[in-house]
Amino acid sequence: MTMAAADIKTRFDAQNESTKVALETTLLDPRFYTTDFDEMDRVDVTPVREEWDALIAQMKADPRRAHFKRTEDWDDVDFEAYPEELRKELVDFLISSLTAEFSGCVLYKEMKRRGSNPDICELFGYMSRDESRHASFINDALKDFGIGVNMGFLAKAKKYTYFKPKFIYYATYLSEKIGYARYITIYRHLERHPDKRIHPIFKWFKEWCNDEFSHGEAFALLMRSDPKLLAGHNKLWIKFFLIAVFVTMHVRDHARPAFHDAMGIDIDEYDAEVFRITSEISKQVFPLELDLDNPALKERFSKMVRISRKIDAAHQAGGIFGTLRKSMWMGAAGLNFVALYLIPTKKNEIPATSRLEPVW
Ligand SMILES: [Fe+2]
Ligand SMILES: [Fe+2]
Repeated sequence: MTMAAADIKTRFDAQNESTKVALETTLLDPRFYTTDFDEMDRVDVTPVREEWDALIAQMKADPRRAHFKRTEDWDDVDFEAYPEELRKELVDFLISSLTAEFSGCVLYKEMKRRGSNPDICELFGYMSRDESRHASFINDALKDFGIGVNMGFLAKAKKYTYFKPKFIYYATYLSEKIGYARYITIYRHLERHPDKRIHPIFKWFKEWCNDEFSHGEAFALLMRSDPKLLAGHNKLWIKFFLIAVFVTMHVRDHARPAFHDAMGIDIDEYDAEVFRITSEISKQVFPLELDLDNPALKERFSKMVRISRKIDAAHQAGGIFGTLRKSMWMGAAGLNFVALYLIPTKKNEIPATSRLEPVW
């Protein structure tokens, strides 16, 4: 095999491997969603028309059109010099961020393609454009590691989870807002500690998070256009999604200790800040919020991290005993989730609002 052929083969294998990582669906990995497109078509945004039009006009103007390109700000970093654990967690972070961005892109594109409601088609057209840019920018960053994710293949091969539109609203609204809170918190931290910027992509996060912020606003307006989605028994679902999204992030972050350590980020403090911002934002629509200061809630979140380590260890061990231990710990995770769900929430009486620019 010539040098060039060997190099191509290594890259091909690396691409297969990272596509495989992105293809794995566990409870914690970003998922791909599909929904009832006919029901989406019946959405009527008349009750929030004025705010809707302002948001659509902002998306149409596309202020961050030129942002997702490498410039001279893109520092050349010798990733080979990083300890192996850090390099592994950094790549894992990039692949899971890419999968999350691409999952949004695929869902929004389908909504545009399968819909006939002009408001819905226009909104999801702009949002899939943004997510596609985000995903491609991360994929480009992965090339520095000699790897890339085959997004076309991923879209075809990944398993899709069906959710009714209202569940898509709760879950995606929270993912967009928590995405905003994560990106801005990391950006501000690295602004204070530029020597801890382990990857140049973080310099792009300030503008980037504004895209996620406005995507979240769109879902806030969709929910406000149909107020029953935010009342009655739906409050139970909102509580479910708040806990699920927050606890998933907490467990996932704790799986990357070297990555956070290298940036000088204390995972618990960082997560607490991201939860605080997200919770504050979500008051714009949700009639309740998690009681983040309740020590029982914090303890249950930490317990979920410990349980997830046990699940991973049992999974790694494999065999019949590994499988048994894994199901036992999965049961423990379920019970812990129920205990989290039973912790009282705080009522939120702030009137529904939306905004074009973040203030956090
Ligand atoms: Fe995005
Ligand atoms: Fe987004």
